[in-house]
Parts: sequence; C-alpha cells; structure tokens
Amino acid sequence: MPNVKICETVLRDAHQSLAATRMTTEEMLPIVEEMDKVGYYALEAWGGATFDSCLRYLNEDPWDRLRKIRDKAKNTKLQMLFRGQNILGYRHYADDVVEYFVQKSIANGIDVLRIFDAVNDPRNLKTAINATKKEGGHVQAAFSYTTGPVFGNEYFARFAKELEEMGADSICIKDMSGLLTPYAAYDLVKALKETVKLPIQLHTHYTSGLASMTLLKAIEAGVDIIDTAISPLAMGTSQAPTEALVATLKGTEYDTGLDLAKLDKISRYFAPIRERYLTSGLIDPKVLKVDVNALLYQVPGGMLSNLVSQLKAAGKSELLQEVLEEVPRVRADAGYVPLVTPTSQIVGTQAVFNVLTGERYKQVTKEFRGIIHGDYGKTPAPIDPAFTKAILKDEQPITCRPADLIEPELASLREKVKLYEEQEEDVLSFALFEQVATKFFENRRAAKYGIDAAGCDAEGKTHIV
Ligand code: CO
Repeated sequence: MPNVKICETVLRDAHQSLAATRMTTEEMLPIVEEMDKVGYYALEAWGGATFDSCLRYLNEDPWDRLRKIRDKAKNTKLQMLFRGQNILGYRHYADDVVEYFVQKSIANGIDVLRIFDAVNDPRNLKTAINATKKEGGHVQAAFSYTTGPVFGNEYFARFAKELEEMGADSICIKDMSGLLTPYAAYDLVKALKETVKLPIQLHTHYTSGLASMTLLKAIEAGVDIIDTAISPLAMGTSQAPTEALVATLKGTEYDTGLDLAKLDKISRYFAPIRERYLTSGLIDPKVLKVDVNALLYQVPGGMLSNLVSQLKAAGKSELLQEVLEEVPRVRADAGYVPLVTPTSQIVGTQAVFNVLTGERYKQVTKEFRGIIHGDYGKTPAPIDPAFTKAILKDEQPITCRPADLIEPELASLREKVKLYEEQEEDVLSFALFEQVATKFFENRRAAKYGIDAAGCDAEGKTHIV
C-alpha cells in the first residue's frame, strides 16, 4: 500500500489557475482512461470555476462533462470543489438548491466533495455536508488557510475538530494562495493530527515558489493525501508537479507507489496542450513565475490579475502598489476574512475604490456592505462596531446563518426553466447562473432544432420546443 496518496488536479485546478479554466472536455477525454490506470487516489475533475466556465465560455454542458469523465474513469475517485452554501456560484443559495445540487453531483459520478466556505463559518457548510452524507458521498471538509492575528494552529485545529464532529470523512487544508510555508505546514499538520482522527489532505499552490517544499514538510508531519498537477500544467499559480513528488518519495516510507513511466504518458499528452495555451495567450507567462506578492499581501494569483485589469480599465495602472497595500487593511476591517472566491473579489474591488476615490469607504460596494452585514456568515474576527456603524448606518447586522433567511427556491426555478428543460440537472445550471444558462439553453435548442436563439426557423416561424 502506498503511504502518501496523490490527487491529480490537471482536470480542474491546474487549468483553472493557469489557463482561466478553459480546458475543454474534448481536450480531456482522450487521456482519462490512461489517467485511470495510474493509481491516483482521486482526480479532481469538476466544480470550482469549471461549471461557470463550461456554460459561459465553452458552450458546454458541465453535467455532460462529468458523465463523460466518469465513463472513462472507472477505477479512480472523482473529486469536486464545492463552495458550501455558494455551491459553485457567488452568492448564498437556499438549502433545497444546495441539497439537490449535491444529490445530482453524486448521481452523475462525483465521489468526493471538497466543501469549503470563504469565511470559515461552519454553519455555511452544514447543509452541503449533511446532503453529501445522505447521498453516500465522501465529505472532505476544508478550511480556507490564511494568516493574520486570529489564525494559528489552535484556530485551525479547533475548526477541524468541529468539522469532524459535523461528520467530515477527511479534512483539507485549502491553501488557495500559496501562503503556507514549509515549517508552518509541518506544525499545522502535526496539530491537526493530534486533534482529529481523519485523513488530512493538503491543497496548496506553487505561486510563491514554496509548494514542493511545503508538501514535503507536510508529508514528514504525516499528511495523508497531497494535491499535485502533472508537470506541463504545474507550477506558477498551479500546483507542484506530480512527477517531482513521486520521484522524491520513491523508495522512502512515504512512497506513493505511482509509476513514473505511466505518469510520463500523461505528461506527454498534456505537453502540446500547454504549448497551445502559451501560443494562444491562454497561459500568460507571467503566471508561471514565482510571485512573492502572495506572501507580502496575501493576494491570490487570480485576484492580482483582477486588480491589474480593474486599474488598467480606470487608466490608473500606476496605483497598483497602493492598492496592494490597501488590501490587507480592508481585509482587517472586514474581520480578517480569508481571500478566496468570492471574498477575494469583494475585498479587492473595495480596495480599488478606496484608492481610486482618494477617500477610504467613500464609495462602498453592495457586496462589501454584505460582508459587514453578515450576509456571508460570521467573520473570523469580530468587526469593530464603529466600523459596522460607519458602513451600515442605522441598519443592524444579522447574526443567524445567512441561508436561514432564504426561502426555498427550487419550485419557482423549476417553473422558470420549464421552457428549456432537457434534463433534470438543467434547473441547477439555471439556479446558479440564470442568464448564462439561459443563453446556453437557447444555443443548445437552436443547434438541436435548426432554429435561431429566439426560437425562429429559417422562414421566421416561431418554434417553442
Ligand atoms: Co486551488
């Protein structure tokens, strides 16, 4: 039995981090059967931004992608990234939508659901965890790793214990920005191992150049599973290269048992895809270099490129340094929320406004106000009441689980999607991305019946199908 298990991320996080989540199903399928023979613990193949990207940019049905991958990966677990009460979207959804999404994810082939919440509020994980258990899936409960005055091994160990008590089958350290340093990883894994009985999986990014070392120290501390990406789509803002870790551990007590020759086949398949992405500009060489901004400002790779483009659009590119320095201050004001989707975008945009207007919080975005109002859950540190008052004026923040205020949505969504529905899962695509999914459904219908997006045939006759 191999001692350290490997979760391969090339089908999800690797291309999400390096190539704006644009890998197509067609690019994936020819190699999945080979990947299935490697003996990976799991393939991370779905969820995160892939769902949105399929519908929005690739004109693909994400459910169809999942079924096709499942069909070719008969022996390996399929893993997805699930944003707790946000599912795969950017706001909180009603419990009935979360439950149905979990049910359909498992029914279509997912084995392991990695469930996390941006602000680490366990109440936002509860519905997804319970639904996964009910459907017989593996609950991998994750916490968003970050640093700051309230965070430390004690905070994370306490959180992991709570997740264990909520029914998690394993725990994931989700270091989305590559902040976890090797020796900190060693101590964190030790602390978790002393506190919970569950397997621990480490997800980190190569962004700041530390990932391989961080994984190695975590392995020495007893981590059970690591996330890596096959080398052509590894490093930079992606994960550490699979082959390097397999070679490092070979012949040691941590031996993964994976065969480098089999991995080489996978690597050779993805090498021309990497070249293609570089030529087309889908991979910007900038994301491949070591970037210490993550360590200095806690800014994840994706967030940095957003800040750059927001400032560019405003014709104020020269203010980047000021914005980068403003980000940690805004984060502190907002109760030290970890910076991960969607909080990274919210804090980033607010920092840009604070700098551009020349006066902090002169202009406050609806979403930032939402964090202060409690709409995203309880923040890791309490927010200063004076700051809350300055942002919310006379309104009081909520203290309940945000989804407790959302009425069941599924029945009304089913009514709305009726016109387009071709499979039961369509209502879930519609629930998450109403406009984008509608456009996708219209295109799908048009392709199927030879009509245009408005439902007219070549003679202008309307067909509602
Ligand atoms: Co990631």
